[in-house]
Amino acid sequence: MTPDFFDSTGGRPGAVKFFLPGPVWVRDAVRQAMAHEAIGHRGKAFADLYSGIPPRLQRVFRTEGFVFTATSAATGLWEAALLNLAPERVLAVASGGFSERWAGCARDIGLAVDVLESPWGLPVDPADVQRALGKARYDAVTVVHSETSTGTLNDLAAISRAVREVSNAFVLADVVTSLAGSPVEADSWGLDFALSGSQKALALPPGLGVAFASERYRVRSRERSRAHYLRVSEAEAFAEKHQTPYTPSTPHLFALDVQLDHILKETMEARWLRHDTLRRRVEAWAADSGHSYAPPAGARSWTVSCLRPRAGVSAEALVAKVKERGFTIGSGYGQWKGSTFRIGHMGDVDLASLEALLEALDASAREAVA
Ligand SMILES: Cc1ncc(COP(=O)(O)O)c(C=O)c1O
Repeated sequence: MTPDFFDSTGGRPGAVKFFLPGPVWVRDAVRQAMAHEAIGHRGKAFADLYSGIPPRLQRVFRTEGFVFTATSAATGLWEAALLNLAPERVLAVASGGFSERWAGCARDIGLAVDVLESPWGLPVDPADVQRALGKARYDAVTVVHSETSTGTLNDLAAISRAVREVSNAFVLADVVTSLAGSPVEADSWGLDFALSGSQKALALPPGLGVAFASERYRVRSRERSRAHYLRVSEAEAFAEKHQTPYTPSTPHLFALDVQLDHILKETMEARWLRHDTLRRRVEAWAADSGHSYAPPAGARSWTVSCLRPRAGVSAEALVAKVKERGFTIGSGYGQWKGSTFRIGHMGDVDLASLEALLEALDASAREAVA
């Protein structure tokens, strides 16, 4: 199957002009689904809607285990992943802005946290994680799979394996910009908790979180959870009735219902392949245009490319100039704000749309003098 065989845009090939690394462009059918008339969340119409969500979401997370939705930004699920487990000591693996923020989240809720820092842009070495686990007793490890601030893809499978080889620590994974854009295998990678948000490669509007929790995570959280709003055992209990514990954002669930069909019709494998094709296209373009990738080859996210502009081009001016041509891309993040630009090529972006962006970037780079 060629990557463009499936019309990811839902009838509007070449139409995408919005390339932030989240929130992302949303198909018309998904936006329209959100306009569904109101329904109560304790009635049959809701149960009919919600009963169909977990079985398809399991296929996105590649699990036969428990998955749930939460009316929350992904940050709320960072907190939930930790509060439901209430670990004694957390090893926060940090290699960029989002992984550092997750460590900060753990500190804010009063947990004992040690940060294992890798330089921004470089992938985390699983051997470093093992060494850190040998120095103290940790019962949770937090890892960000696709570090959106640097465009680096960590080898989550290898990190998870490395953790299990030397400890019983629970592996808590942020798959915010990898889920539905590049392989995430909750079961076979041995993850204990994995979380994402609707506004990334799932290609829904922002506001809905999705998560997976392993059997052993759920057993332990039943005894120890300090969460209230996002208590996993409550989500489990209500899921039996095809409900959520509290009033959900029903419009998001109507949208997710439509989008899960679209995602599974494309198939997970073809969706990953399309993202990989988009990434490779940006790599080839960057080489031709003289821009350089922040992360090394082989450790680049399939959904967000983080680049340093060629000499003489200002990253900030480039973002502004391409905006004048109608295209939105991301600026750099945190300590890399002024020195990099980021192209989000995730969700339902097609190759024709990306080609138009790259052409506009070339024209813009000639004007974006540093
Ligand atoms: C890797 C990663 N984790 C977490 C977040 C936080 O997401 P939210 O703003 O939905 O809380 C983001 C947002 O860009 C992200 O890219």
